[in-house]
Amino acid sequence: MSDTSVSRGLFISFEGIDGAGKSTHIDGLAKAFRDQGRTVTLTREPGGTPLAEKLRAMVLGDAMDPLTESLLVFAARRDHLMTVIEPALARGEVVLCDRFTDATFAYQGGGRGFDLAVLETLERWVQATPAVAPDALRQPDLTVWFDLPPETAAARLADARAPDRFEAQPLEFFSRVAAGYAARAQAQPQRFARVQADQTRHQVWQQLTATFVRRGWLSIMVAANSGPK
Ligand code: TYD
Repeated sequence: MSDTSVSRGLFISFEGIDGAGKSTHIDGLAKAFRDQGRTVTLTREPGGTPLAEKLRAMVLGDAMDPLTESLLVFAARRDHLMTVIEPALARGEVVLCDRFTDATFAYQGGGRGFDLAVLETLERWVQATPAVAPDALRQPDLTVWFDLPPETAAARLADARAPDRFEAQPLEFFSRVAAGYAARAQAQPQRFARVQADQTRHQVWQQLTATFVRRGWLSIMVAANSGPK
């Protein structure tokens, strides 16, 4: 067994404004980890469990005030953590999660302008992991932040399928969301890896895998042989 296949659970989240191009890269990373012999749980938020997927449909489809929206995404997150993420980490798997709590700080906090102190309280309630330590909070081991100008993201989204409640927002909303991500990344720099997402798919993949190779999580060989062509 190589060093990189030692079974320590790894929790990695992927963030960025809509149109940042996360999806293909998350699939590529799942393949790369599997090629290395790791078991991967590929999941998303809001969602990832039958209950949380129902909540996702409401959050993305129904009009509601920002507190209701925040409570629903954190309710979905609690169910997801308890039934999928924590058990997978306990089994030593790699959990790749398309969005997590930083999205709440960026979209509900930044985009909607909702009270960050309330979000911090919800974060502490929902992500408490007393099994690890009395005051431990579950956070991703790494958060990959696909950073690109809101104008570029908007141009990409213009050709996409029918927009949901967030994708239909104006450019100013996404500028606030982007600022929300930047603030989280600045507050917790050791957890964030920023990827410049306004490059070709191949260049973004190279930035991404360099981060994983540097941490000893992927071998150079596997990284070079997977990902978008
Ligand atoms: P997204 O992850 O972009 O999925 P898809 O690629 O299928 O569109 O969509 C989820 C949307 O939910 C996105 O616009 C961000 C939003 N969101 C929040 O507003 N708060 C949250 O806490 C999370 C996790 C997502």
